[in-house]
Amino acid sequence: DNNRFQAIISHCKEYGFIFPSSEIYDGLGAVYDYGQWGSELKKNIKDYWWKSMVQLNENIVGIDAAIFMHPTTWKASGHVDNFSDPMIDNKDSQKRYRVDHLLEAKADELEKGGKKEEGGALLKEMDALLAANDFAGLKTLIEKNNIVCAVSGTCNWTDVRQFNLMFSTEFGAVSTEDNEANIVYLRPETAQGIFVNFLNVQKTGRMKIPFGIAQIGKAFRNEIVARQFIFRMREFEQMEMQFFIRPGSQKEWYEHWKTERMKWHLSLGIPAEKYRFHDHVKLAHYADAACDIEYDFPIGFKEVEGIHSRTDFDLRNHQEYSKKKMQYFDNDVDESTGKPYGNYIPYVIETSIGVDRTVMMVLSEAYEEQDLSTEEKKDSRVVLKFPPKLAPIKLAVLPLVKKDGLPEIARRIIDTCKPQFRCFYEEKDTIGKRYRRMDAIGTPFCVTVDHQTKEDNTVTIRYRDTMQQERIRVDAIKDLILKNIA
Ligand code: GAP
Repeated sequence: DNNRFQAIISHCKEYGFIFPSSEIYDGLGAVYDYGQWGSELKKNIKDYWWKSMVQLNENIVGIDAAIFMHPTTWKASGHVDNFSDPMIDNKDSQKRYRVDHLLEAKADELEKGGKKEEGGALLKEMDALLAANDFAGLKTLIEKNNIVCAVSGTCNWTDVRQFNLMFSTEFGAVSTEDNEANIVYLRPETAQGIFVNFLNVQKTGRMKIPFGIAQIGKAFRNEIVARQFIFRMREFEQMEMQFFIRPGSQKEWYEHWKTERMKWHLSLGIPAEKYRFHDHVKLAHYADAACDIEYDFPIGFKEVEGIHSRTDFDLRNHQEYSKKKMQYFDNDVDESTGKPYGNYIPYVIETSIGVDRTVMMVLSEAYEEQDLSTEEKKDSRVVLKFPPKLAPIKLAVLPLVKKDGLPEIARRIIDTCKPQFRCFYEEKDTIGKRYRRMDAIGTPFCVTVDHQTKEDNTVTIRYRDTMQQERIRVDAIKDLILKNIA
């Protein structure tokens, strides 16, 4: 629901998670900055992904390739020719729209108006036309459904055309085969940095198929419709893994990674009913099978992650364009022939998840407005129920008063814990207000140092989700938290 979505966006800004980019200049469309707590949350998400994919899998290694790549990369990958979306312009407002977004919005409207089946049928028809690249058909579908431009209110549309989504910029001198201008692109996916390094990593790392290469990094797309907070940005971050396999084994590995990735999602503590798989009808230019993992955002079920069976499309094309062999020699014996598998271009299964969409998913799942009113008094709180391992701050240490040696004890607790995890010290306002502020940024544990601490070396620990409190020994704090964030 849209109110909840708007409340989350405001909360993110008010509490230092996410700000519009260059806000003092009224922002920049679909570009956002992560603030003090947002950047911690995002970093924890990336670390958790890296740990699950790289640290825990002996046959997956990570790299960090450059954003700029030789321009021929994007010819070989198909992005120059195919990475475009059908768009349509309204002649009155000169506003440009992505055709699928216009039709999806109409389907949503139908569904909300109680015409669920009509909405579903519209999407089905759209999918078929997109898959057939039938632009005239798409235009007719828009007109038939009386879709109007949100700005002009008219349905005076141009023909449907394709627009490439890659950003380009100028570079010093680049040698390209056709001596084209010095145009380089900002990468629209991190995957190509992995493909072009496939043999570097395989050889230097002595990797044996099946193996994976993982990477986290920025990607850029000139998105046309971009009004969905950090869901669709022009500068965003991806966490991708290419898994190199024997040709013919792609079905099995595709299923394997679908299962593994869903397990990862569920390990975030998000219930299974908030997820679904969505199989692609229209496949990207590189894929022979593809699906999305969708999460039930406040704006509906939407894609968080893509799992793609990319065949040998990328490596084969890089081999053709670069004239460098992209082959792997497999000396394992094929039982059906009794001979080694020999030389081949590996097939690839890709898992690709957006960091920012994961941040939005984790925030949507964690955000709760609670009414805590009793008969005596009205009360409420906003709490972010992050899994402790993802929370920006793990422990807040709060001296009850600013005197009697309590701040010093609190500082000593922080000094013991801060090499292990992020802590926060606060002495202003009442304890109740301080707890609320920690709830609002999702801190799972608060400890309060009071006069009793001086006598028996115990503090009150207060748990974010249950708001329950108990006394524990000062020297037990660190281990309790470490156990909860492992
Ligand atoms: N290498 C494959 C690839 O890039 P994709 O489905 O286009 O596949 C993968 O993108 C993921 O990247 C998406 O599932 C989404 O989470 C994220 N993503 C894509 N475009 C995005 C955008 N404009 N803003 C934020 N995240 C985006």
